[in-house]
Amino acid sequence: MGRNDRASFGSKLGVILASAGSAVGLGNIWRFPFETGNHGGAAFILVYIGCVLLMGIPIMIAEFVIGRRSRANTARAYQILAPGTHWRWVGRMGVLAGFLILSYYSVVAGWTLEFIGEAATNSFAGKTADGFIAAFNSFTGHPWRPALWLVVFLLATHFIVVRGIEKGIERASKIMMPMLLLLLLILAVCSVSLPGAGKGIEFLLRPDFSKVNGDVLLGAMGQAFYSLSLGMGCLCTYASYFRNDTNLPKTAFSVGCIDTAVAVLAGIIIFPAAFSVGIQPDAGPSLLFITLPNVFQQAFGGLPVVAVVLSVMFYVLLALAALTSTISLHEVVTAYLHEEFSMTRNRAAWLVTGGCIVLGIVCSLSLGIGKEYTLFGMTLFDLFDFVTAKIMLPAGGLFISLFAGWYLDKKILWEEISNRGTLKVSVYRILVFILKFVSPVAIAGIFINELGLLK
Ligand code: TRP
Repeated sequence: MGRNDRASFGSKLGVILASAGSAVGLGNIWRFPFETGNHGGAAFILVYIGCVLLMGIPIMIAEFVIGRRSRANTARAYQILAPGTHWRWVGRMGVLAGFLILSYYSVVAGWTLEFIGEAATNSFAGKTADGFIAAFNSFTGHPWRPALWLVVFLLATHFIVVRGIEKGIERASKIMMPMLLLLLLILAVCSVSLPGAGKGIEFLLRPDFSKVNGDVLLGAMGQAFYSLSLGMGCLCTYASYFRNDTNLPKTAFSVGCIDTAVAVLAGIIIFPAAFSVGIQPDAGPSLLFITLPNVFQQAFGGLPVVAVVLSVMFYVLLALAALTSTISLHEVVTAYLHEEFSMTRNRAAWLVTGGCIVLGIVCSLSLGIGKEYTLFGMTLFDLFDFVTAKIMLPAGGLFISLFAGWYLDKKILWEEISNRGTLKVSVYRILVFILKFVSPVAIAGIFINELGLLK
């Protein structure tokens, strides 16, 4: 395909919503609360917001620049902007990270489908906290149910990706994002007014900085990259479909704000509810799936119809939010295979879907019947999460920052950021400074600290 006849997004709102659709997903609503819970609450959230501002948004702008300038998949992008250099490995590592994330992410996305069914049949009614925990464990330990949902979810992703950019991705995002936000607001109000919710609010708002250590820093940094879909060329690939008049800094800022708002809102829903029913905030990946049914049950137990309608709506929207994220992950790998190995888009997409189904099923089984098999003390599921979120994405972010800050011609950087001089960008100098020094030093510092090299 020539460089000028690639598909593109149809409107400015479509650009923001599709990027926000990629960013907002299980990372915000499922992963953010459990990472916050594992790392002690309020202080983690503040460190997280710092990471979004100092690394997330600047690196997102850098990815946008690389993608729109090159108008190619993420591996080719570096070959176009830095021919004959090793920078293309940054793109390739990103494609691999995308494939790994998509595999285990689809497992959790599949869980949301099971929960739509549970919500619709009102099976949350009358359960206690222990009952929810037991039900969740028996579901994830089931030999084939989670695998079945995973396959359904990956096939849904597959067919949207095959339909292409404007029709599939853009249209889907435009409807779903605003609905999700509205429902989250309603749930936040419900959760905060549960009996005993105060402790959860305190957990979210009163920072204890004595708890901030290397793990907290690494966790917050990893979460920022994960939640903003950064460090692996995902938004870079989307930006290759942006229009020439898309305002890159403004889009990045909007996406960063929407994404952070959704994550914080998810925290406001989960923690008051968890404390209210006595579920530990560090319950890990199961946190969302055992606290939320409780919120529905406690807040609306007396009104079964309301409980069913709201909970079904919630899980449907959660599944859709996950879908706009899996689409973006899938698209990175599909665009790479399609453009680099001259296969049809259809065939490339099938390869990705097939590979992820196999790897996803293995991840899913590693939480159930394969629990005893661990590597570095982690199940395969946890290992994939750790390696991608806490190593590959920040490392990718580090290289992207260095690429845009040091390697890339400043003329190109300026042209893309200011749309060839037609935009006034007051933050340009600060941005270059952050990309050159602040984010690379911060990321490298957190890595070095975590490896224990400073001790
Ligand atoms: N950001 C998405 C979420 O929060 C997940 C995701 C999509 C992602 N694309 C990504 C994570 C690229 C890392 C990199 O759910």
